[in-house]
Amino acid sequence: MAEEKEHVGMNKTGVQMSPLETKAMQSDDNIITRVHPGDETQAAVLRQAYIAEGDGLGSIPVPGTMKGMVSMGLNLLKGDKPQILLDKLAERLAMERSATRLYDALLTKLAVMTEGRASINLEQVAAIRGDEARHAVMLAEAIASMGGDPTAMTPSADLVGVEGMGLVQVLNDPRTSLAQSLHALLTAELSDGVGWETLIALADEHEQADMVTQFSLALQQERKHQVMIQTWYEEAVGLSDAARARADHGSTAAARGVVAGMTEMGVGAAPVAPPGSTS
Ligand SMILES: [Fe+2]
Ligand SMILES: [Fe+2]
Repeated sequence: MAEEKEHVGMNKTGVQMSPLETKAMQSDDNIITRVHPGDETQAAVLRQAYIAEGDGLGSIPVPGTMKGMVSMGLNLLKGDKPQILLDKLAERLAMERSATRLYDALLTKLAVMTEGRASINLEQVAAIRGDEARHAVMLAEAIASMGGDPTAMTPSADLVGVEGMGLVQVLNDPRTSLAQSLHALLTAELSDGVGWETLIALADEHEQADMVTQFSLALQQERKHQVMIQTWYEEAVGLSDAARARADHGSTAAARGVVAGMTEMGVGAAPVAPPGSTS
């Protein structure tokens, strides 16, 4: 197995590999016809017909227990939308379950990728994997506490499952490098952080104080994951310490700008500890 995956090789996918044919193609009198082969109106019309008839990605199940039905009924009478919270809890459960498997796949890779690892180590990756698995259990318990079914595939759970398919493929592809695997994990962690923020705000709106407390702790752990994965990713692509320090400075400034903009717009922050205050 090659440790150096991003190597220079016999890649012939670009036009530079065939300069004569490229020149001939570009001087072809029919080039205009080929570059503008018509518009995509008919394809869009066909898609729009399916969109108009589409009935969504399934539904949120009616609670299968008496307690769940009573709880949902009372909440609906109060004007709440417990089904939205249940759907988002199921979404995060699907994500945490997938994340556990993504880190299992990384551990499998790291067991044989013994060179060029920099500061990444199996113990820390296993600890992150443990966090993800615990988050999944916590979410299943939260769904059950509302009388919901943690095994049900809700629309949002289905959605994140489909979104994550590419990430699973990247991690399980035996050809992908450590840097490529970490890039996929960074995508997952960034999306996960935003997902937890939304879920915490939603739980707060539904006056689920215990959930807000538990989920805020989970979000703190997720932010630590993101920092660790980003650090390992940057090490894996060979970014120097100086360049990383500059990037850190830039992202801190950008984050401050976003927060200032949100304050000006009157947008409140989620009820969680700010980045950097995590233990
Ligand atoms: Fe997670
Ligand atoms: Fe995570």
